[in-house]
Amino acid sequence: MLTPVDSQDFCVGIVGAGMMGRGIAQIAAQSGCRVVLMDSVPGAATKAVQILDDTFHKLTAKGKLTAEQAQAAVARVSVVDDVDGFAPAQVVIEAIIENLEVKKDLLRRLETVVCPDCILATNTSSLSVTAIASSCQRPERVAGFHFFNPVPLMKVVEVIDGVLTAPQAVEILDALARRMGHRPVRAKDTPGFIVNHAGRGFGTEALRILSESVAGIEQIDMVLKKAAGFRMGPFELLDLTGLDVSHPVMESIYHQFYQEPRFRPSPLTGLHNAAGLLGRKSGRGFYRYQDGVMVTADPVAVPDVLPTSVWVESSAAGSEIAARLAAIGIKVEGGLPSAQALCVVTPLGQECTQAAVAQGLDPRRTVAVDALFGLDGCISVMTNPATSAECRDQAHGLFAKLAPVVVIKDSPGFIAQRVVCGLINIACEIAQAGIATPQDIDDAVTLGLGYPHGPLAWGDRLGTTRVLDVLTAIHAATLDPRYRPSPWLRRRAQLGLSLTTNEI
Ligand SMILES: NC(=O)c1ccc[n+]([C@@H]2O[C@H](COP(=O)([O-])OP(=O)(O)OC[C@H]3O[C@@H](n4cnc5c(N)ncnc54)[C@H](O)[C@@H]3O)[C@@H](O)[C@H]2O)c1
Repeated sequence: MLTPVDSQDFCVGIVGAGMMGRGIAQIAAQSGCRVVLMDSVPGAATKAVQILDDTFHKLTAKGKLTAEQAQAAVARVSVVDDVDGFAPAQVVIEAIIENLEVKKDLLRRLETVVCPDCILATNTSSLSVTAIASSCQRPERVAGFHFFNPVPLMKVVEVIDGVLTAPQAVEILDALARRMGHRPVRAKDTPGFIVNHAGRGFGTEALRILSESVAGIEQIDMVLKKAAGFRMGPFELLDLTGLDVSHPVMESIYHQFYQEPRFRPSPLTGLHNAAGLLGRKSGRGFYRYQDGVMVTADPVAVPDVLPTSVWVESSAAGSEIAARLAAIGIKVEGGLPSAQALCVVTPLGQECTQAAVAQGLDPRRTVAVDALFGLDGCISVMTNPATSAECRDQAHGLFAKLAPVVVIKDSPGFIAQRVVCGLINIACEIAQAGIATPQDIDDAVTLGLGYPHGPLAWGDRLGTTRVLDVLTAIHAATLDPRYRPSPWLRRRAQLGLSLTTNEI
């Protein structure tokens, strides 16, 4: 029988005293567990304990720990030289090099020394938990325990069932995560688990928008931050992570899902990688960096022109725009547009071209505005190939009176509609595949990626039928299966149910 997880004697073994192993050791020791640490590099585990000691002192100085708690936490960590030292452990977590054969070999050796009920957990990000367990006599005791960097601050951990993992193993890891102050989210073994799977659409769709010449990197980042509420734009994030890291991950997830179009990467990242434009670390990525500071282009000047008259399509979004313009003293035409009016449409998933043609408008005087994300943060104004430069500038000048404006070229679904509805669609597929519960998907994404909302809750906020309309229209316009709506989304939208609804 294992010692109960909440016991003082609960002993956590950690193999690998690098960035992740040290972080896990910190939260385990702070939660009162005994910790046994090992690393194959002589002296590395001892060095890690010294760093932990420093960290605990810093936390004491900040008032987060008392001196006694700091002393007790470091005293709970002991260093061992080989796997025999893990005999007292109830759980051993490996956080060693990301290599399948090396991890399999380690687990095989651990199995010969640990107690019969000891759980063997892997912190792998990209390997299959089932494959890592395949070398073990008892694969049912092996599970994934995927933390995020930096471990003490990223308060979420994915607890992953391999195909043969026993329920007791994940229950113990679930309880251990809670003891350590982390939110466990449960996932089935699948490429990218939840977080690296659910976030896949963010960068790839932004790259696709860039490669279609719809907008530039700064514009795409600005719309996604100011209109959709992401903390970082996709190009800022790609530069921060480094393309040497993200490009292979994008390719790996795509191939592990057998070329699923939803995860199709862009040729742009391969080119940037080959050119050594890796991001912040190389001084240039999508942006340039001078002394570590991003160099941004000067903002586009707002044209000092206004339309003589404005017509806005009659729809709920159109009425909202008309009301906002009326509030600043700009009268909007009723009925059919007059011969000189700037015409404003608000398509969901459609191009400006499609909306102008469908409504019989003069395309030279027509622009589209994305109203799905409100009109406060930033307003996307989309032209079509016939829009005159004069009307584009008038629309820019007009909407700049309400919020900062980003002018983009024609695209089915603007920028934010494409990226956010794509993320919602992928989350729906994760729910449909039963990889995780709706609540765990949303919590994993908000805690692991820092998105403003969980993708399923976000779909509810935007309106499930609107999200379905966006994806259906983009799919129809592009004929690209990347945008095909998930059945999970379609059924719930058609039935008027929340995207977090499970089928009985
Ligand atoms: N760094 C991240 O952001 C991150 C996030 C989540 C998961 N992970 C995963 O965590 C694991 C460790 O990542 P990291 O960033 O801490 O790496 P790291 O390189 O900082 O540390 C790995 C440590 O493991 C030791 N090691 C290597 N092979 C060993 C072996 N056979 N036996 C004992 N020790 C061994 C190394 O000496 C090193 O100290 C990897 O599986 C990685 O995919 C990393």
